Order: sequence, then C-alpha cells, then structure tokens
Amino acid sequence: MTQDELKALVGRAALQYVVPGELVGVGTGSTVNHFIDALATMKERIKGAVSSSVASTARLRGHGIAVLEASEVERLPVYVDGADEIDGTGCMIKGGGAALTREKIVADLAERFVCIADESKRVPVLGGFALPVEVIAMAAPRLVRRFAALGGTARLRPGVVTDNGHPLLDVSGLAITDPLALEAEISQWPGVVTVGIFARHRASVCLLGTAQGVQTLVF
Ligand code: A5P
Repeated sequence: MTQDELKALVGRAALQYVVPGELVGVGTGSTVNHFIDALATMKERIKGAVSSSVASTARLRGHGIAVLEASEVERLPVYVDGADEIDGTGCMIKGGGAALTREKIVADLAERFVCIADESKRVPVLGGFALPVEVIAMAAPRLVRRFAALGGTARLRPGVVTDNGHPLLDVSGLAITDPLALEAEISQWPGVVTVGIFARHRASVCLLGTAQGVQTLVF
C-alpha cells in the first residue's frame, strides 16, 4: 500500500471513535483530510465538528458538515488528528502543517485524542522531525539562540504565516527523551505561542496504518 492508502485506511478507521449525536474535534493535514471525507458518510448522525484550521473548516463545510467555533464549545468527547511523529507513550510532534496552536486548543477541549498516522510516524524517540514552534516575530532571534543552547538548530519556515498571523520555527537536532519536561520548559519562554510537542495532550489511542492493516495502540 502507498503512504496515502495507509492514511486513507486510518482515516476511515477513526469513524468508530466518533460519538453519534455529539460534536467531533477535527485536526489538520493529509491524513485528517481522509478522515473528513469518511466523516461525510455519517454527517447526519453527528451534531457537527470543531475544526483546528481554516483548511479543515473549508473541507468540512464543503461536505455540508456544520462547523462550530472552539469558543462556543465546553467539551468534546473526541479529537481526531494526525501527527508528524508519535513515540511509544503517545507523545507526539505536531505542526508540520502549521496548525499546532489551534490543534492544541481543540485537543484541550477533548476527553480523548485519537491519533491517525501511517507507520512511518511511529518513532522510539521524538525529534527526528524538526520540531515546529509558533512564535511572536520579535522574539524569534532570541528563541533561535535559546534552542542553540539546547543543541538544536532553529530556522524560520520560509514564506509561512500561521492562521494566527505568526511565523514558525522548525528546530532540528533535538532528541526529545522527556517530552513532558521539554514541552513545559519551552512553553514558558517569552515569545513562544505554542511548541509542537504534544505530551500534556498526548494521544490516548493511535490508529497506525501498516502493510498488515490498522494497528491500534492504546496509551
Ligand atoms: C498539522 O499542523 C500537523 O500537526 C499534522 O497533524 C501533521 O503534520 C500530520 O500531517 P499529515 O497527516 O499530512 O502527515
């Protein structure tokens, strides 16, 4: 199977976690696009969706699925999203699609995070994928130096501004052996809007697309 076929497989498999009669939180990315297309087949049975990006909102609405603002919602039973990397404890790197801030906000509303990913995303230690960090522009040079002190190389993602109007740093060279501690540390640096480590909001379940089919990892 191609990588895209594996993404489609887990996108469809995630429907089993959607609670009929309720809202569903929807992430961003090529794997989630497959989930959104599958969700359209049961749109009459859900109240609607809360989306984490302009792109996902457009795709949901294109299918005739109602999209509510995160600010209008108190809780979601489930949030479905992809990842750039996921480790053996359900901690993830996210933000490859620049939607990390809204993804963390919507994930925070949810009781359960269902990660959908092809098997290339499963890693022993996070950090092979350059860590995305949404920042306030005036703090970027200082933050680049802070990451250098940790052994990381931070680069501004060229030509990219997030849905919130901020630039992104991509930080390579970090071996993230303690995701919870590093997420807490970086989140406190002035000028950091959101760090793409999802440890406090780690996955409760991961549906991993493999050549043998969907593997369900429970954390
Ligand atoms: C979006 O900002 C990301 O967090 C995505 O969830 C992540 O990049 C996975 O994307 P794909 O499903 O396209 O691989």
